[in-house]
Amino acid sequence: MLVSFADASLGPLKAPCSLYAARVWAMQQLQGVTENPGIEAEMLLAELLGKPRVYVLAHPEVALDVHPLEIYVSWIARRLSGEPLPYITGHVEFFGFEFSVSPAVLIPRPETEGLVEAALDWLATHPEATVVDVGAGSGCIAIALALRAPFVQIWATDISPDALVIARKNALHHGVEDRIHFLVGDLLEPLPVPPDLIVSNPPYVSEAEWPALPLSVRQEPPVALLGGRAGLDVIRRLLVQAVSRLRPEGCVLVEIGETQGSAVRTLACELFPGAQMAVLPDLAGKDRILRLALRYRGGSQPGNSRSRNRGA
Ligand SMILES: C[S@@+](CC[C@H](N)C(=O)[O-])C[C@H]1O[C@@H](n2cnc3c(N)ncnc32)[C@H](O)[C@@H]1O
Repeated sequence: MLVSFADASLGPLKAPCSLYAARVWAMQQLQGVTENPGIEAEMLLAELLGKPRVYVLAHPEVALDVHPLEIYVSWIARRLSGEPLPYITGHVEFFGFEFSVSPAVLIPRPETEGLVEAALDWLATHPEATVVDVGAGSGCIAIALALRAPFVQIWATDISPDALVIARKNALHHGVEDRIHFLVGDLLEPLPVPPDLIVSNPPYVSEAEWPALPLSVRQEPPVALLGGRAGLDVIRRLLVQAVSRLRPEGCVLVEIGETQGSAVRTLACELFPGAQMAVLPDLAGKDRILRLALRYRGGSQPGNSRSRNRGA
């Protein structure tokens, strides 16, 4: 039987169609859309069959019938329109864990795993810390921390209630829903307790960068990406809020854009003079994380004095 499709450039494919033929066809279709057409074709076939990707490679002769083939063709059409692959499959792997995603959330990126590593490094010496993940999105950071640091108290905030629906779903899936308090609101404002560790992957794309981003990235929520004219608006407001909220000896870890290291460091030094400051690179050697650690010299209650943080 012939599977027809409105866009002639997509087909037709004939059912039954082998996995091999379906893969080759999709690779040709996706050439201009992605740098990894073969991998994406395999991932979609694996998703369709509910099997691991290696199955697709190991069983090229397995045949797709009409219905699965129609679904597959529709997925390729969505991908050709620029929709990110994880929005089509509905899930993505981050830090070795599986997370549900939808167009309400940013798709977790591999470079953000470095932020989780940096947080776990700090938590190794502060195992019962109070942590807040600001801009939790899918919840990937907060949930990875909950899974890897069993004694920390975790709060997670986001301005988007729809994003936190996905984050709660992911927390439930990973069995950590009782360990993370999700709060809708602006940055640190909804937080009822002063945190020891603030970890955040905030929006940091500049207005100038936005039009040049791939179509698939521009299908993700603008509120998750756009950080104002120079991309620094949300980072700046977060650091300003942190001044009066971060506990003595606390730490701030913020993901930044690769060109923002110097500006963010200058900003952080103005707001937290005396703090230990570093801009950490990602695996590609690009500036990626601001790390700011307060040095507490004693004398005040833990909590909220701007002068204490500034003089630390
Ligand atoms: C870059 S995404 C990060 C999502 C997730 N943490 C990750 O790393 O994949 C930024 C997130 O910050 C949220 N956000 C944007 N402005 C915010 C604000 N003023 N207060 C709290 N969250 C905000 C967005 O809704 C989005 O979920």
